[in-house]
Amino acid sequence: MNKNIVIVGSQFGDEGKGKVVDLLTEHVSAVVRYQGGHNAGHTLVINGEVTKLHLIPSGVMHEGVKCLVGNGVVLSPDALIKEIAGLEARGVAVRDRLHVDFCCVLVLPYHVALDQAREIKKGKKAIGTTGRGIGPAYEDKVSRRAIRLADLCGNEERFAEKLKTVMAYHNYMLENFYETEPVNYQTVLDECLAMKSQLCELATDVTGMLEAYREENANLLFEGAQGTFLDIDHGTYPFVTSSNTTAGGVSTGTGFGPCYLDYVLGITKAYTTRVGAGPLPTELSDEVGDWLTEKGREFGTTTGRKRRCGWFDAMLVKRAVMLNSFSGLCITKLDVLDGLKEIKVCVGYEFEGKPLKSPSFGATSFAKCKPVYKTFPGWTDSTAKITKYDELPENARTYLKFIEEFVGAPIHMISTGPDRVDTVVLKDLFG
Ligand code: GDP
Ligand code: IMO
Ligand code: MG
Repeated sequence: MNKNIVIVGSQFGDEGKGKVVDLLTEHVSAVVRYQGGHNAGHTLVINGEVTKLHLIPSGVMHEGVKCLVGNGVVLSPDALIKEIAGLEARGVAVRDRLHVDFCCVLVLPYHVALDQAREIKKGKKAIGTTGRGIGPAYEDKVSRRAIRLADLCGNEERFAEKLKTVMAYHNYMLENFYETEPVNYQTVLDECLAMKSQLCELATDVTGMLEAYREENANLLFEGAQGTFLDIDHGTYPFVTSSNTTAGGVSTGTGFGPCYLDYVLGITKAYTTRVGAGPLPTELSDEVGDWLTEKGREFGTTTGRKRRCGWFDAMLVKRAVMLNSFSGLCITKLDVLDGLKEIKVCVGYEFEGKPLKSPSFGATSFAKCKPVYKTFPGWTDSTAKITKYDELPENARTYLKFIEEFVGAPIHMISTGPDRVDTVVLKDLFG
């Protein structure tokens, strides 16, 4: 029986999705991105060698596996070409395995200019975006003025005309509302046309490819970027990204119908991190927070920013289980907690001094939530690189058992280090 598996981050991104996608890729014919853009940053470690990816699916290190970019992804031509070149320079064959849907919306320099101008104008209220133009590109999509890959690959005059109209609109905003420099039309046009042949070689009907895979009973892996609480609808709005990061995004972002999906894996960090602004009730601004940052090397793959760290928020992950219908969890970075005397888990919130029964995760009310903790004893033995559940310290197992019972989803994998092999597999997802 074939399996179509979805990978979603359960928290605020950077849970270790890339590592897990890379590990599971050996079982599939294709790995498919369905949302986000080059705001994502995924680090893979294979036999000690590090690979950082942004747009290209995290299955790329497996020869012979197709890497597909679905219609829900916003595509920076420049970022994609640089990423391909970086991999090819290391001897990784990419072009014959990478296919991008014609309907992908292009992220162009005026989106980047708008994203950055907007953040500056917001001042202290800035979202802390990655500055990659992701929000403005999705806005163009929803407002039906976006330029898609299909436009670039079609008639050149029509493309030039469309670009001119869109840029006149955005440049008006840049100059008059944001009081900043406009973006030069001719430069953008020339750059796009210079990349045209490279990009259009990759362009295809990804939805049609997925249908063909389904007909031949192939296994597929759908790779989420960002995390559940950065979802445009279900996250801590407005401190979110501009796409549906949750499992529902798979179908809209690829055209692969929801009933064809068999299993959703929630990638769940053993503590919580967040990059950029927005509420994080369990945030630690003490030496334990510093410990997590240092030991977990919590610095962004895309922007290099320090990630904010806090205790595991079981209330959040319980909500993520519901939002994504997680079939199972992969707990990552368990090894980072090694050596802590005690470990806390948020099991409830207080709102204005009273226990809160049904929290709301929008930024304004969530920011007022105070965590209620349950404390667990830590462990002194190392869990790093452990691959067998029985070899984990008893206190670590107690911590994991509590998490799965509280959030209501079984733990099917545990990651104990950055390398592909540092993993405890409790269930063969493709079995
Ligand atoms: P993603 O965006 O969800 O793919 O996650 P990132 O790659 O941005 O961030 C996760 C970071 O943690 C990367 O540097 C990984 O190499 C690393 N990592 C993943 N799993 C583990 C683990 O179990 N233990 C440790 N120590 N590091 C891990
Ligand atoms: P991966 O796939 C963590 C955050 C930004 C900012 C907010 C909006 O590596 O998990 P955007 O540029 O998307 O408009 O920024 O979302 N953000 C991420 N945080 N991991 C990511 O991706 C992120 N992608 C965006 O920091 O707070
Ligand atoms: Mg990341």
